[in-house]
Parts: sequence; structure tokens; C-alpha cells
Amino acid sequence: MSSDAQILQTLRTAGSNGVSGAELSQKLGISRAAVWARIEDLRKLGYEIEASPHAGYRLLSAPDTLHADDLSWRLSKGRKIGRDIRVFEQTSSTNDAIEKLARDGVKEGAVVFAEAQTRGRGRLGRKWISPARKGLWFSVLLRPELPPHAATQLTVASAIAVRNAIEEQTGLKTEIKWPNDILVSGKKVAGILTELSAELDRIKYVLVGIGVDVNLSATDFPAELRTQASSLKIELGKPVARTELAAAILRELDREYCRVLAGDFAAVASDWEQHCATLGQRLVIHLGDRRVCGRAESLGEDGALLLRTEHGHLERIVGGDVMLEK
Ligand code: BTN
Repeated sequence: MSSDAQILQTLRTAGSNGVSGAELSQKLGISRAAVWARIEDLRKLGYEIEASPHAGYRLLSAPDTLHADDLSWRLSKGRKIGRDIRVFEQTSSTNDAIEKLARDGVKEGAVVFAEAQTRGRGRLGRKWISPARKGLWFSVLLRPELPPHAATQLTVASAIAVRNAIEEQTGLKTEIKWPNDILVSGKKVAGILTELSAELDRIKYVLVGIGVDVNLSATDFPAELRTQASSLKIELGKPVARTELAAAILRELDREYCRVLAGDFAAVASDWEQHCATLGQRLVIHLGDRRVCGRAESLGEDGALLLRTEHGHLERIVGGDVMLEK
């Protein structure tokens, strides 16, 4: 753990009691002058740290910026997801950044966050707006020993993880629209873009890109999206702390991913089905040029949506643009 992370952890644990410079210096094995210099740097990053002769240093508030060490210490030691966390100020797309790491052979569980993306992308080649410090824009590298057709299981597992974390942190009632849109009051607040590199019978790596519209205002969305998209801040009526939410999502992702690897996708799917706004609905699905209509019946063992078509066949849907039939 870096000295910044150790200082922050010690200040957080001490709370209003504060910690003396001598104690920090002993704990970190650095001089009191070096502790002071670290505190000054943390202040520049926006941490409000009071220094008093009696109470020592006290952390009054933390900025809403993402800090890799700060995220790390909120996660458990033996985790897979988030064992390597990197935060960029800006990148084209975190899926591009994580793909580079994947090609360089970085271990699974690495996570790349960006405070802003210049070319964020969504499913079906759509643009994903990613304004600075207003959302969570990040990608996770997975290397599961699974056949390529099981990749949809990871999409489903990621959706339930994001849903659970949002509900835990905000209390908002969330639903999932197949395969992986997270909705609050019928509006999309988060989306997941899963990209796969595979050989015929095995996955090489999966990139799970997650975008959560946390503190965006209505005007941050293009006018044509405002009826369908929203943010947690708009729905809750107040801003949401991004670091806490990011850590909660990583914890939930770790839990759900371990369930998939343990062969317990049935449990993940059952949680997913409980929160799914799509099952039982009549849908229109655009698969490229093809248009399929039917009733969403259930989730297949590989995470596919099983659709009872208007001709009575059960069709396995693994992608496409899903809309409620009007
Ligand atoms: C969708 O619902 O269409 C998927 C949206 C996924 C957006 C995230 S933001 C982080 C990662 N980087 C990207 O360029 N896209 C994903």
C-alpha cells in the first residue's frame, strides 16, 4: 500500500479522534516532515485535513475523485476483481485501455477507470457520453476458463452485480432490462459492454466495460436521450459518492464472477430473473436486419434470452436491440 493510502486509512480509522504526526511517522517509517509533505499533497488533491496541536491530523472530507489506493483498501485481500486498479484522468475508452493490458498479458481482475472518456462506446456501435467526474467509466479484464458461448453468463453476472451495488449504496429500486441495462423508474442509469477475444473452443479474455451515470444532470444528456436515460443523482435528488459506489460494484462483481467460475450460474440467473423487467413482456428485437417479435419466457443456461416467438418457436437471443412491443 502506498504511503498516501496508509495515511488515508489511518485517518479514516481514527475518525474525529485524529492521529498525531509522530504516530503517522512511526507507522509509515518516514520522518514527520515527510508525513507533512504527504498531507500537503493530499490536500492539493482535495482531501480536507485539519492539523491541530491537540488532536493531530483529522480527515474532515474526501474529494469525489477516484484514487486507485483508496479504492483498493475498500476491497477484501483475496479478491480476484480489482487486484490491480488503475485510474486515468482521461482515455478514449476504458475498453481500449484494458484491451491493451490484456494483450500485454496482464492477469485477470485488472480494472481501469477513467475520469472521462473521449470516445466512450455503447452496445451496437452507439456513442456513450462520459463527462469528467460525473459517472463511473471503467473496464474489467477477465480470463475465465469457459467456452465462448458462456460469455453471456458474464454479462448477466455483471448486470446483477451493478444492480445490487446501486441498490445497496442508494436505496433506489433498480431493474434489469435484458441483457444488461440497469433501469431506475424505467430509465437507463447504467449499461455494460462485454467484448470477447476467443478461439473456437475457449475464451482468451473478456473485457467488461461498465458505465454508470452517477452524478449527471439532465443537461449532460443529449436532448433525444432524456426520456430514456437518467442518472442516480436525478433519481435520488442528491449526488452519490462515486468511490463508495465503485468499490461496492467491484465487491459485487467479485462475488458474482466467483459464482460463475464455481459453476453456479443457476444461482446468478435466479437472482437476475427476480430483478428482470424483461421477462414475461412482449418484445420486439432487432438483430441486424432481422426483426423478431415474441414473449420473453426465461433465461437459458448460457445467459441467452429465450423468446417464444409469434410463431410459437422458442428462439435463443444472444444480442440485438430489445424494445417493448407497443
Ligand atoms: C451500453 O449500454 O450500450 C453499454 C455502455 C457501456 C459503457 C461503458 S463506459 C466504460 C466502458 N468504456 C466504453 O467505451 N464503454 C464502456
